[in-house]
Amino acid sequence: MRILVTGGAGFIGSNFARHLARARPDWEVVVFDKLTYAGRRENLADLESRPGFLFVKGDIADPRAVAEVLPGCDYAVNFAAETHVDRSLYDAGGFIMTDVYGTFVLLEAARRAPGLKLFVQISTDEVYGSVASGSSTEADPLMPRNPYSASKAGADRLAYSYWATYGVPVIVTRASNNYGPYQFPEKVIPLFVTHALDDVPLPLYGDGLNVRDWLYVDDHCRALDLLLEEGAPGETYNIGGGNEVSNIDLTRRILGLLGKPETLVRRVADRPGHDRRYSLDCTRLRALGWSPRVPFEEGLRATVEWYRANEAWWRPLKEDSPAFREHYRRHYEG
Ligand code: NAD
Ligand code: DAU
Repeated sequence: MRILVTGGAGFIGSNFARHLARARPDWEVVVFDKLTYAGRRENLADLESRPGFLFVKGDIADPRAVAEVLPGCDYAVNFAAETHVDRSLYDAGGFIMTDVYGTFVLLEAARRAPGLKLFVQISTDEVYGSVASGSSTEADPLMPRNPYSASKAGADRLAYSYWATYGVPVIVTRASNNYGPYQFPEKVIPLFVTHALDDVPLPLYGDGLNVRDWLYVDDHCRALDLLLEEGAPGETYNIGGGNEVSNIDLTRRILGLLGKPETLVRRVADRPGHDRRYSLDCTRLRALGWSPRVPFEEGLRATVEWYRANEAWWRPLKEDSPAFREHYRRHYEG
């Protein structure tokens, strides 16, 4: 089997490529990635010498580049996206180009690849918008409220339309907030852990009571692997961690694990359009035999330890990368 992993040099994609190397050692894994600020070839360093592993640098919005990698693949999993909500507030165009148009380019190639068994579009729980009470099922209406989630919702339904219209074997997955190793240090957990290690104040948005459902990245990878075999084309699957935690609670846990004082918390202006809560009903996926295995306390401790042990990975990203510095200045210091 050959599987195409687009966006495989990013956080979840690189963890998924590593998962495949362990769980499906005889598969060929082709990682296709543009290597934006968020994509790092180093994230795949341990896989590069593995037989059957191939890295191709390219843009999913480039039909010629996609036409060179997608045909001949049995599976394609599309992680490639601009993913940071805060950045989408300043540059929605880049999100539309990659997340919507890039997905369209991939789907067009999938339509012309008769051997393709499954195309997995990685969507997000953000497409449901803010959930005041209860949990979102896959049948719920989509109500995205920021340019990132609106772009993801566009790609989500476009992927579905290629199943409904052309019979492309598409499934759509909507995962909750992932955490774990190799997450770019602009997202809240790695940002707060690495700031706290340096005794830099943690910029907590608004009242800190927004709730996210945390999913350990390995549990996400296991769910995706299961869906490669058990997912029904045309279906959508929620993938949630079952760990709904407010941001202030999360922040206190991080500080506790690092033995740092709460005085490090700095309340800052809220994110515009900040969704209050996400919550997923995962009955459909659980019926296939999946459930998350990593308890939140354990996953968070392991994640904090990973960042503590891998300063050589994150420090250059925070201190030397113009992409991080520029975003930080514009967003937090502007
Ligand atoms: P990430 O930002 O860490 O990685 C994105 C990857 O996509 C990077 O390697 C980047 O170089 C690549 N990329 C960006 N534009 C590209 C393009 N035009 N062509 C090819 N490659 C391109 O993101 P992540 O957190 O790993 O998220 C992966 C996917 O999962 C995204 O689709 C995201 O919307 C979705 N998702 C993420 C989460 C989460 O909590 N992180 C939760 C649910 C869904
Ligand atoms: O829910 C799934 C989504 O999770 C994915 O689709 C996105 O790609 C991923 O980035 C993530 O989006 P969030 O906006 O939830 O993640 P982020 O880490 O940016 O923020 C998590 C929460 O923490 C959110 O309520 C905002 C808050 N926050 C974030 C940052 C960066 C702060 O309070 N301060 C911060 O500095």
